[in-house]
Amino acid sequence: MMPRTFLWGVATSAFQLEGSPYADWTAWDSELQAHPEVTHHYHLYKKDLKLLKELGVNAYRFSLEWSRIQPVENQWDTEVLRHYQDMVDLLRQEEIEPMVTLHHFTHPKWFIEGCPWHHDRSLMRFTEYVERVAKELKEVRYWITFNEPNVLLLGGYLDGCMPPGLRDRLSYVRAFENILRAHGRAFDILHASLPEAWVGVAHNMVAFSPYRRWNPLDQFLASTAHQYYNHSLLDALRTGFLRIRFPVLKKIEMALPVQGKLDYLGVNYYTRIHVRFNPLRPMGLELKHEDRDGLGLTDMGWEIYPRGMERTLKEASKLGLPIIITENGVATRDGQKKEKFIKSHLDILEQCLQRGMDIRGYFYWSLMDNYEWLKGLDAKYGLYSVNYDTLERKATPVAGFYSYLIKKRSHF
Ligand code: FCB
Repeated sequence: MMPRTFLWGVATSAFQLEGSPYADWTAWDSELQAHPEVTHHYHLYKKDLKLLKELGVNAYRFSLEWSRIQPVENQWDTEVLRHYQDMVDLLRQEEIEPMVTLHHFTHPKWFIEGCPWHHDRSLMRFTEYVERVAKELKEVRYWITFNEPNVLLLGGYLDGCMPPGLRDRLSYVRAFENILRAHGRAFDILHASLPEAWVGVAHNMVAFSPYRRWNPLDQFLASTAHQYYNHSLLDALRTGFLRIRFPVLKKIEMALPVQGKLDYLGVNYYTRIHVRFNPLRPMGLELKHEDRDGLGLTDMGWEIYPRGMERTLKEASKLGLPIIITENGVATRDGQKKEKFIKSHLDILEQCLQRGMDIRGYFYWSLMDNYEWLKGLDAKYGLYSVNYDTLERKATPVAGFYSYLIKKRSHF
């Protein structure tokens, strides 16, 4: 049984805090190569865990950096696994629930060069990694197999903006299939070694709206984007069938052994996107961020749209599983804007709970400023700021505000 205590947490990922000399992304982003000091954060975890205590959270989502655990194919670094076990033990001592992500966008360089996700060998390699972790890492109940498979697949295999940088529909479909299979295997492995484990995925969900509300083409594209982006992964996990429909191309449908392999659904919610038909764009699709409600845009250029969280949570509820908001946050240097963002999203969360949705936790992204995938070190999501020269962390006023808000809602 999943405990009823509401999880109030913050989320991070290993690579974004600490980098890794062995990861595909290090080679991918030249800005990171210019900032090798980022990797020193790895040694600061004891200090960082104290910040969680200071915040008063009862849960912490972090990821394991696969490329540090397995820097070379067939070579395991047991020291690194001990490091993660130490983190788990320290969290437990403080009565903070660890939530561990196995895969948060990065891979060992050898993996992405030799057998990225559209290769069949990828599945075996990932399975070996999960088996190793399941054997060695004790006392973890909450697991996330993959962070945002939809983002990883679009970025890595269709849009080319993430490693391995492909733009190829066939590779995309093969990678989708293998990631789903990998999730299914990880689910089984974790349950075999830890029957009481709770295993989910962190699914990025977006509120899509037609750019021109009256325009049937915009409406059609918005609902296609919604169906495809928000639902194809969830439907596959619910039904055991992966169905992908690319406009103009033939429909893809395949049975996969993943049906029901989810104990809860993690939802990462950030924004709304307006969808517009534009004949000059590939597939006629134009995606736009607009400040329609006057709540502003973030430093990423994303619309601040708390009501979209309700929409996506409603969609997510259709799965009939408990939900945990595994990420929600805002990049801004403006503290007041950040506070407003958090307060308005927590208000929505409260309304959703009152309406009876089964939501078990909320994790703010992120504990501290960190490396943002396509933006570098400029995106400020943190409750704590980081000085990249000295590596000093400093509480911003928003940290105190978040502590106050979650304390007031500790009865959830
Ligand atoms: C999510 C990612 C997370 C972070 C936030 C801002 O899509 O999961 O790593 O980059 O966006």
